[in-house]
Amino acid sequence: MTADLDARAEAIMRGNDRGGFTVPTARLYPFQWNWDSAFAALGFAAFDMGRAWRELETLVSGAWPNGMIPHIVFRRDDPDYFPGPDVWGCAVDPPSSGHSQPPVAASMAWRLLQADAGGAERARALLPGLAAYGRWWRERRATPEGLAVCTHPWESGRDNSPDWDGALAAVDGSGVAPFTRRDTGHVDPAMRPTQAEYERYIALVEHGRGVGWDHARITAAGPFRVADPGLTFMAVRADRDLAAMARALGAPAVAAEADARAESAAAAAAALWCGELGVYAARDLITGAWAPGASSVGFLSFWAGVGEPLRDAALLATYDRIAKSCAYGLPSYDPVAPEFDSRRYWRGPVWAPVNWLLAQGLAEAGHAARAQALRAATRALIERAGFCEYFDPHTGEGLGGGEFTWTAAVWLAWAREG
Ligand code: DGY
Repeated sequence: MTADLDARAEAIMRGNDRGGFTVPTARLYPFQWNWDSAFAALGFAAFDMGRAWRELETLVSGAWPNGMIPHIVFRRDDPDYFPGPDVWGCAVDPPSSGHSQPPVAASMAWRLLQADAGGAERARALLPGLAAYGRWWRERRATPEGLAVCTHPWESGRDNSPDWDGALAAVDGSGVAPFTRRDTGHVDPAMRPTQAEYERYIALVEHGRGVGWDHARITAAGPFRVADPGLTFMAVRADRDLAAMARALGAPAVAAEADARAESAAAAAAALWCGELGVYAARDLITGAWAPGASSVGFLSFWAGVGEPLRDAALLATYDRIAKSCAYGLPSYDPVAPEFDSRRYWRGPVWAPVNWLLAQGLAEAGHAARAQALRAATRALIERAGFCEYFDPHTGEGLGGGEFTWTAAVWLAWAREG
């Protein structure tokens, strides 16, 4: 069974390879997505190290002059996706979206280098782009203290998480230019964000375009600004990994700068501890309102190496309660929250790459049994349902797109050994 699935996973990754970059899945997501691509590198590293480096090279080559690696790089035309480059209106080459996505690329680059003794030259070539990207997060997309600010639900990678409901409700989507969604032509609409959410997503894109994608301005004064534990913890870890890679490559100045960013942002993350929910939670920077429930990314403090004994005890109790409430962990949202939906995208389903991040962090923090249970759950889901985009935490049903790159990547890099 494992050998069959290994072959299948490799075939999916090769099949989604468009020549140096990998699409998350054909049709539904026909371009290069930022964090999907970083996970693709992790997967390729299991069987083709050269191709793994190539994935990160193309990703980093899509960076803006200000250092941002965008959430989508539109490497070729595809009218079957909405919103395409004309809606984003970004004056960059290659065409791209106007905001970013979870920063995991530096973490993957450091993993690749550790696994590939001959990779130093390729890693060194990536270093300036990854360092500029780390700087962009801090200087243009964070609070002065260092909390990463989500300025569009798509930027978080967790598009329709209940974490955004309150802030998104305050965005007026009624005046957006008429549009036709493409996603619901590819996937059951019950598994996707709603129309009202899409109108607001597009209103935020129109706002960004209207201010010429001035990132600092959008972060400081835009209509949607939420401090996100997911982005914050992934940025902290990216900086720690960037620093480690820079040290290994003999670039101490880059390492010192990344270390300093990581330390101050790790300290700032304490402000996202929500005692009432017993988890790190998203917080609306305009109203001060907390998220309505626990998101799976609230546990990524372990991935970031952010620990504090009292908070960690409460955090693990929350984690255990949620993990026990589902047949397959970890749901993207706490099932006790009224907003939970076991089938709708980021409102409940399990995502393999998040499980990978969670499990790495848990294992590093000394919680090996929990990490192992997460690996076993991920393996069971893939064995049961295949390489789907996401999974129902109660039934194990595969949901969303099929033949999914990051699910295949997580299988090859980790889940198959469970
Ligand atoms: C989509 O198109 O649904 C993507 O998640 C946006 O990044």
